[in-house]
Amino acid sequence: MIFQNLLASTSALLVALVQLGSMDVMGSSKGIKVLPVDLSPSIVYVEKDGIKGFIYPEDWDDNDARVMCKQLGYKSGVALGPWDLVRLQPNVTFGAIQVWDRDNYRLVCAEGFDDLAAQAVCRSLGFTYGKSICCSAFGRMDYSIVYSNINCTGIESSILECDYVKYFANCTSEHYASVACSNSPENEEFELKIHQSGKVTTRHFDNSGFICANGFDDTEATVICKEMGYKGGSAYFHSRHTKYSTVPLLGVPWLANIACEGTEKYLGKCGKINWGSVGTCDENRLPAVYCYNKTGFSFALVNGTDKDNGLVVFTVDDKEGAICLRDSVTEERQKLAAIVCKQLGYGNGGLLLNGTDAENEFTARKLFPGKSDMFITKIKCKGNESSLAECTFRILEGRYDFPEDWISITLDGCESSSCYRTRSYNRGYAFLNELSCWAGKRRLVVKCFL
Ligand SMILES: *[C@@H]1O[C@H](CO)[C@@H](O)[C@H](O)[C@H]1NC(C)=O
Ligand SMILES: *[C@@H]1O[C@H](CO)[C@@H](O)[C@H](O)[C@H]1NC(C)=O
Ligand SMILES: *[C@@H]1O[C@H](CO)[C@@H](O)[C@H](O)[C@H]1NC(C)=O
Ligand SMILES: *[C@@H]1O[C@H](CO)[C@@H](O)[C@H](O)[C@H]1NC(C)=O
Ligand SMILES: *[C@@H]1O[C@H](CO)[C@@H](O)[C@H](O)[C@H]1NC(C)=O
Ligand SMILES: *[C@@H]1O[C@H](CO)[C@@H](O)[C@H](O)[C@H]1NC(C)=O
Ligand SMILES: *[C@@H]1O[C@H](CO)[C@@H](O)[C@H](O)[C@H]1NC(C)=O
Repeated sequence: MIFQNLLASTSALLVALVQLGSMDVMGSSKGIKVLPVDLSPSIVYVEKDGIKGFIYPEDWDDNDARVMCKQLGYKSGVALGPWDLVRLQPNVTFGAIQVWDRDNYRLVCAEGFDDLAAQAVCRSLGFTYGKSICCSAFGRMDYSIVYSNINCTGIESSILECDYVKYFANCTSEHYASVACSNSPENEEFELKIHQSGKVTTRHFDNSGFICANGFDDTEATVICKEMGYKGGSAYFHSRHTKYSTVPLLGVPWLANIACEGTEKYLGKCGKINWGSVGTCDENRLPAVYCYNKTGFSFALVNGTDKDNGLVVFTVDDKEGAICLRDSVTEERQKLAAIVCKQLGYGNGGLLLNGTDAENEFTARKLFPGKSDMFITKIKCKGNESSLAECTFRILEGRYDFPEDWISITLDGCESSSCYRTRSYNRGYAFLNELSCWAGKRRLVVKCFL
C-alpha cells in the first residue's frame, strides 16, 4: 500500500506508534505532522498540507504501519484493526466499554446489555470470558452513550458485529454498560480482603472489586468479620469525594444488596450474591468495616458537668475514641452535635464550648485530660442522619496512620503557583489537624437539650 496515496485521500489512517527511545510525539517528517492526542496515545492524528485526520484503511497491515511510522521518525509501528477501536476504562480487564467513533469515544447503553454481549467485547480484547457489569458502574464518563439495543449471540468476535442501533437517543436508562473480562470461566469462588482503611475488596472471576454501599450495614459487616475470624463487625462509610481528591475505586463494583441475615458464617451464604448485578451503585459512599471481638461501636458523652454534656466518645472492644474536628466551620460542628444528641435520646444539642478555637482547645484539654485511643476523622454529615455512624468518616488508630486521601492530595496537576501553595498547605494542614487531635485538641464536646 502506498502511504502517499493514503494521505492524499481524506480517509482516516489509524496506526499505533511503538514509541521507542525518546521520540517526541510532535515529531514531524516529510511534511506530515503527528498531532499530540490526550484521548488515546495509541491513536495518532496526522496533518498534511493543513488537512487533519487519522487513517484507518481496510487493508492496512503491520508492514504499512512500520513504513509509515519509520517515515514519521519512529522506530517501528503496528497496525490496529477495527477490533482495536474498543477499549475498557478504567482498567484493561474491567471497565466501561468505549467505542472509538470518528472523533471520540462513545459508550454503550446498559439496557439489554447482557453476558453474551460482554463475551463479545471481552473476546475482541483478547480474553476468553466476559461478564456484564450493570449500569454506569464507574461513575461519570465524559462520553455520550450512542450504541443501544445491543443484541449479540455470543459468537461475535467484536461488539461491532452484534446488532445495535446507533445515533438514536434510545438509551432510556441513561446508563452505560461495563464488563469484566477474564481468561478463567466464572465459578462460585471469591476471596475477601479487609484493607487497613477498613475497606473491603473481593476478588472474583480474576478481577478485584468492591461491595457497593447499597444495602450494606452492620449485618453484612458482621458476616464479613466473622468470616475473617472476629466476633462481629460495624459498617461505616468513606466519602469518595473529598475537597482535594477523589479516591479511586478499588476495582469493579462487584456486589450490591447482598442481603445477609447476620447469622451466616460466610459471605457466600448471604441471600443475593449476584456478581456484577449492582444496579446503580452509590459510589459516593465506600463501605468499610471495623471488626471487633467484644462489642461494636457505641457513642456516649463522658466527663461532663452533667449527663447531658461532655466529650463525645465512641467505644469499640476496649478502646475509646473521640471525634476529631477537622472543619473549622462552626455550622458543621453544630450539625455533629445535634446528630449525636438526638441519637442519645435528646431533642437537640449544640457545642458546649463556644469560645475561639484556641480558648476551646485550652478548656477542652483541662476538662478532658485523657488521651483517646483512636479517632473518627474527616467526618461529613448531611444533617438528617439518625446516628454519627451514618455519616462518612475515616477511623484513625495510630498517630501516623493517615487516611489514604491525605496521602493522595498530590501536588501533580497544579499548574499555577497558587494551586501548588494551596495544595501543599492543605496537605500540611491535614497532617497538623490529625496531630492536634492526638494531642487532645479539636475534639467534639457537646451539650444536649431535651
Ligand atoms: C436478538 O436477535 C435475535 C436474532 O437475530 C432475535 O431473535 C431476538 O429477538 C433479538 N433480541 C432482541 C432483544 O432484540
Ligand atoms: C428503541 O428501543 C425500543 C425497545 O428496545 C425499540 O422498540 C425501538 O425500535 C428502538 N428505537 C430505535 C430508533 O431504534
Ligand atoms: C487493573 O486491575 C488489576 C487488578 O484487578 C490491577 O492489578 C491493575 O493494576 C489494574 N490496572 C490499572 C491500569 O489500573
Ligand atoms: C479476635 O479473635 C480472634 C479469634 O479469637 C483472634 O484470632 C484475633 O486476633 C482477635 N482480634 C483482635 C483484634 O483481638
Ligand atoms: C455559649 O454562648 C452563650 C451565649 O451565646 C452563653 O450563654 C453560654 O454560656 C456559652 N457557653 C459556654 C460554655 O461558654
Ligand atoms: C474522664 O475522667 C476520668 C476520671 O477522672 C479520667 O480518667 C479520663 O481520662 C477522663 N477522660 C478524658 C477523655 O478526659
Ligand atoms: C438525607 O438527605 C439527603 C438529601 O440531602 C437524602 O438523599 C437522604 O436520603 C436523607 N437521608 C435520610 C436518612 O433521610
